[in-house]
Amino acid sequence: MFNSNISLPYFDKLLEQFHQGDAQTLQAFGRHVHWGYWENPNQTDGSVTDFTVAAEQLCRRVCNAGRMKDGDHLLDVGCGFGGTIASLNERFSNMVLVGLNIDDRQLTRARSEIQAKQFNQIEFVQGDACQLPFEDSSFDVVLAVECIFHFPSRQRFFQEAKRVLKPGGRLALSDFVPRSLAYHLINWQVMKSPVEQTYGQVNSRFTLNDYRRLAKQTGFILLQQEDITANTLPTYPVVKRIFGQIGGKTEEKSTAQVELASRLGLLRYQILSFQSV
Ligand SMILES: C[S@@+](CC[C@H](N)C(=O)[O-])C[C@H]1O[C@@H](n2cnc3c(N)ncnc32)[C@H](O)[C@@H]1O
Repeated sequence: MFNSNISLPYFDKLLEQFHQGDAQTLQAFGRHVHWGYWENPNQTDGSVTDFTVAAEQLCRRVCNAGRMKDGDHLLDVGCGFGGTIASLNERFSNMVLVGLNIDDRQLTRARSEIQAKQFNQIEFVQGDACQLPFEDSSFDVVLAVECIFHFPSRQRFFQEAKRVLKPGGRLALSDFVPRSLAYHLINWQVMKSPVEQTYGQVNSRFTLNDYRRLAKQTGFILLQQEDITANTLPTYPVVKRIFGQIGGKTEEKSTAQVELASRLGLLRYQILSFQSV
């Protein structure tokens, strides 16, 4: 059995706010719980509406990296409230769309919000990214949008993704990746505590070279690597404002620390995709 006893303080806060009927938090995070992508980061008005459009854009960029098509079987690991599945359901047909999450509370919301259309089939399954409850060679595409840093082991997740993917299948993900040279400059002992109090267990110490090595070890080739840090920066004022309102100083501070590391170029927001060989 997997251990579902994971601490995700930010999801506790979000669910509490949804329960209280907080319209702003619901608008910002009711579908996607990830950063935004702005094609032109100078053109942002700082509003929640603008942020939700950008969050959908980020989802679509990760999906594009997975190169899916109508009829594919797709697994979205760490699926949050099912926003990526909802987006694919609106844009593709005849797909088998499976969302997996360790936190059943999020799946309850996903199941109640998303109805299959365009001959798609949708299922939400509780489970751990590192022990996928699926048969070998079941999927054409595996996605992990902004969640791999929570997983107990990237190596175990890649092994599992390789196992459940059909030969030639794709794995696409987004992650906060430290620049290898800058890695030792990041004072993780200072950042670690507020970040974990807000976001729970996070490992953002896996470099691009680590990904290259891991892909080789686990039977993948790197298809695409895109640094979109600059396009995500308008996220921070919005998230700091909302987290400041619903959380408090720790939430604001931890998000500001991630922002500083990103603005200094120490932490890069990367979209990566791999093909199973
Ligand atoms: C930042 S949220 C991203 C959610 C979603 N991918 C999105 O983009 O809206 C991180 C997600 O990872 C999930 N998660 C964390 N650890 C996990 C694990 N070991 N297995 C599966 N899901 C996990 C969390 O419950 C949460 O839904």
